[in-house]
Parts: sequence; structure tokens; C-alpha cells
Amino acid sequence: MSAVLVVHGGAWAIPDELAKASVDGVKTAAREGFSVLKRGGSAVDAVEVAVRSLEDNTVFDAGTDGFAQCCEIYLMFQLCLTYFLPQTSHVMLTSQGANLFAESIGISTVPTETLVTEYERREWEKHKNYMTGVIEDFNTQWAHDTVGAVALDSAGNVACATSTGGIRNKMVGRVGDSPVIGCGGYADNLNGAVSCTGHGESILKVTLARLILSKIEQGKSVTEASQMSLQHMGDRVKGAGGAIVVSPSGHWAATFTTERMAWAAVEQDVLWYGLDPHERLKEQLPQ
Ligand code: GLY
Repeated sequence: MSAVLVVHGGAWAIPDELAKASVDGVKTAAREGFSVLKRGGSAVDAVEVAVRSLEDNTVFDAGTDGFAQCCEIYLMFQLCLTYFLPQTSHVMLTSQGANLFAESIGISTVPTETLVTEYERREWEKHKNYMTGVIEDFNTQWAHDTVGAVALDSAGNVACATSTGGIRNKMVGRVGDSPVIGCGGYADNLNGAVSCTGHGESILKVTLARLILSKIEQGKSVTEASQMSLQHMGDRVKGAGGAIVVSPSGHWAATFTTERMAWAAVEQDVLWYGLDPHERLKEQLPQ
């Protein structure tokens, strides 16, 4: 089984001044995630390493520099943990319970203000009103978001990880698609793994990740399944976004309906990457 890792840095109208940093960021994350698979590591460990790399990069909306909420400038994580937790029989914890669980397994915390950069503070000032800011932004395919990774390891297991700062100026308590199983991500060894990006409310309405996998289940290729599902989201709820997919046989796709999405994929020591529609560039990695 040939290992594969794919990452995205969010689907949106990435301005030219962020283009190079976005592409460099996804290439680095893909290389770091793939190095886990190359050493024989698991798909779960590989997507975690890749997403940590993206979260630590302030060009992306996740981890440091995540979008601020409407009532206060500091990020208030409505912390959601979605994971198949060996320690419990649950698959999703939110809010105080998630915080308590994170503490119990030794996840360290940092002061929230350290996660807000000067750039994000200025953007928050510009877009204080959710209804006249974000909705208009999404209609012009602007203001997206989110990082993610999918992987297939040499044992044939697939995994996905999706992380977001959410959308700018959201209401306190708003939960987007990213932590919701079947919406922002889904992984099943029978059909593959998906990580989504885009307008969370639209992704939630069409359960985008599961929709893509159900089309693969019905015999569509990874590219067809992603394109058809994103098209459906546009037609039904006027939502724009993107998705990365890997199948159990190692086929993969990176697809989007926004102006741009930075993505990168590694298979057999070849790094593929792109930013604009239909762009697919190639680099040979050292053996
Ligand atoms: N796609 C992330 C969000 O809407 O929160």
C-alpha cells in the first residue's frame, strides 16, 4: 500500500500578497505529515503533525490568528474535541467538558490573547457587524478559512483532521462545520477520508464530507465525487468551499469552488501543489 498525504490551507479568495506564504505553508505541512507515513507511522499521527504545522503558521485561519468573535476581540474557543477517544466511549465533547477532558489528558493551554495577531485585530475592527460583513464576504467567495489534512498509511488506514478559527465576527456559541462529524471531516477505511473548508453553515446544511464519501461509495471517482458535492452545495444553499479526499486505494483529489485554495499532496516522494483552479505543480522530494 502506497502512503498518501494531502493538506489544504482553506478555500477563499486568497489575495496575491498571501499567495506565496500560503503555498509555502501547505508544502511544508505536507512534507512534515508525509515524513510520519514514510517512517511507517499511522495516518492519524500524520494528519495531526500536518495540521499542527498549519495551525502554527499565522497565514492560516486556525490555531494562532484564528478569527475573532463578535462580542470580544479575544478568541473564545467554543472548544470542540472530535476524536475517537480510546479513554471514553464518546466521540465528541464540547465546551466545559472538552476543556476538562483536555486538561485531564495533559493538553497544555496558553492565554487566549497570545492567539490574536495584530492583523486579525485590525480585520476584526473592520468587520464588526456579522450580518453586513461575513454574509457579503461569503457571497463574494471571500473570508474563508480552516486547515485540514487527510492521509492513507501503509497499513491501509485512512484519517482526517480539520482545524479552524471559525469565521470572523461570529456569534459567541456559534459552532461551524469543522468539528462536526460528516460535515467538516469524515474518515472510513471502506471509502476514504475527507477534510472540508468553506462556509460552515452551508457545509453543515449539506453534510459535505459524508456527501462526498457517499458518492465514492456509489462508484464515483474522488474528483467527480468532490466536484459534484461542491456543486450541489452551491446550487442548494449558495455555499462555496473546498475539500481534500483520499481513497483506500490511494487516489486523491483537492477541489474547490472559491477563487483559490492552497493545497499540497505527497505520494511516492512526489510533492504536488496548487493554488489557482486547475493548477497542479510538481516537485520531486529527496529519496
Ligand atoms: N469552515 C469553518 C467555519 O465555517 O467555521
